[in-house]
Amino acid sequence: MRIGLIGCGWIAETHLANLSALGEQVTCVCDPDPERRAWAAGLTGAEAFADAEALLENGEPEAVLVLTPPRIHREITVEALERGLPVYLEKPVARDLADAKEIVATVERTGVVCAIGYQWRAITWVPQVRDLFAERALGLLAVRMFGATAGRTWFTDQAAGGGQVLERASHGIDLVQAIAGPAVRVSATGVNVPLAGGDRPSTSEIDDVLALTLELERGAVATVQVVWQRDDLPRTYALDVIGDGARIEGCWIRSSAPEASPTGRPSTCRTTAHRAHMASSASSRPRARARALRLPARRHRRRRHWRRRWPVSRR
Ligand SMILES: NC(=O)c1ccc[n+]([C@@H]2O[C@H](COP(=O)([O-])OP(=O)(O)OC[C@H]3O[C@@H](n4cnc5c(N)ncnc54)[C@H](O)[C@@H]3O)[C@@H](O)[C@H]2O)c1
Repeated sequence: MRIGLIGCGWIAETHLANLSALGEQVTCVCDPDPERRAWAAGLTGAEAFADAEALLENGEPEAVLVLTPPRIHREITVEALERGLPVYLEKPVARDLADAKEIVATVERTGVVCAIGYQWRAITWVPQVRDLFAERALGLLAVRMFGATAGRTWFTDQAAGGGQVLERASHGIDLVQAIAGPAVRVSATGVNVPLAGGDRPSTSEIDDVLALTLELERGAVATVQVVWQRDDLPRTYALDVIGDGARIEGCWIRSSAPEASPTGRPSTCRTTAHRAHMASSASSRPRARARALRLPARRHRRRRHWRRRWPVSRR
């Protein structure tokens, strides 16, 4: 399949590595930033364009990945769908509701596939957790998202990116709803406090720490906590669930270890399933619990994020 990449920034690195590992061919790329499009074209041998319109008109893609900042999702996605091209659109769907509604309406009208980049719902333990609590009273789902990220210009601008609610917490919101159904009431608290070291520009106006509380239609409460912290601290991306007669602690959400790939970058960020510790049937002590479940005890060693080894320009 001839794949077009629209937007050659930070997340494009992950997609290029994954597409390469899958043996897929990227035949055209575009980015208004000449350095970024030259970088992507150099890795893939793809034809480079300065804008999406030129790529859609002349690049002859059979499917596209839209990897632009949220404010720039609608126009490109709608244009691609209108041309009958299947789209992988990075989350969030859009920066605001009007844009998102237009994208959804176009998908419904054209019937063309538009997949949104909420990859956590594809983690292998998600159906197991959903099934375990399907018939039980469900009390609490708690998502912890503590880690570093890149201080992209639009991300640290509340109006442009929607802050950490759209950029990061929305993964947790999607995960909770994929497991336990829709939320009916939401409240949130956030503070702007610099914890992310050199990744965070001093001009950042978004909340660095967030706590969201979601009341779910089926009666449970969910919390999504997000901390934008320094990269040299241990990171935690995990889900805990407590229901009637069952409790799961530490369903791990994280990237796999670095591997070489033909793009010269590691084919990481496939979100892989990690251990769902079914504490309902085993001891609460990690080693005993692991033995009871015939799992290796989790090693608490810290891993540095792989991106650090391949410096990326932080625009
Ligand atoms: N699924 C995930 O886990 C995940 C992780 C990170 C980012 N994202 C999402 O991916 C999207 C991009 O994020 P990023 O971190 O790569 O941002 P980025 O700023 O690093 O990259 C965006 C790129 O888009 C380019 N661009 C801007 N306007 C364009 C246009 N009109 N046409 C083509 N290219 C254009 C920019 O020059 C830049 O190179 C965002 O929606 C973000 O939320 C998803």
